[in-house]
Amino acid sequence: MDGARALVLHPQRLTRTVNDGGKARVGVLISGRGSNMAALIEAARDPACPYEIALILSNVTDAPGLETARRAGIETFAHSHRGMKRADYDAILDAELRRAGIEWVALAGYMRLLSPWFIDRWRGRIVNIHPSLLPAHKGLDTHAAALAVGDVEAGCTVHIVTEGLDDGPILAQARVPILPGDDAEALAARVLIEEHRLYPRALATLVRGSGASDGE
Ligand code: GRF
Repeated sequence: MDGARALVLHPQRLTRTVNDGGKARVGVLISGRGSNMAALIEAARDPACPYEIALILSNVTDAPGLETARRAGIETFAHSHRGMKRADYDAILDAELRRAGIEWVALAGYMRLLSPWFIDRWRGRIVNIHPSLLPAHKGLDTHAAALAVGDVEAGCTVHIVTEGLDDGPILAQARVPILPGDDAEALAARVLIEEHRLYPRALATLVRGSGASDGE
């Protein structure tokens, strides 16, 4: 790891990497299909994108997203969490991220809670995408929850990860209508299209250090 890529511990110093002409190094954590991960990879191909996707990590060793990442030529790290204490597992993730010189961590369908230790160690540098208009419908089954309470719109949120579940500062949101006859699957598909648009842009805005974005 050279000096310019050394892990930067303070968010206010992260712009140094971009200002030096390099791209900020992003590690993406996945557990499944990785379609948001793929959207980030695609966006990062743009020379103007301020970040590169440098490492994909998964707690599910056969997650389909891993193959997508490999096909894109991106380094992967897969290690099951089974039988491990959360903090011990997260220490392994942390070591891999640091070894790879990662500066930002993007959760993309990572289906595990992170330990307080990990969140504190990467404070302000972990982002997540959640398929609801937070603070509405935290946790799982968000689309069914939105339909159950009769919401007229749904959407997705990119936020900083803190200790509270789906609770950190909101960076960007995108909205979609809920249409007559929608079931959870139809709504999820409509939201997912917006997720793939929103996440790369919100991450770019964050990495550039230009503050919050409305996603437009
Ligand atoms: C997405 O809906 C994301 O918002 C949520 O989990 C899903 C992951 O899908 N956190 P994918 O693996 O990115 O396709």
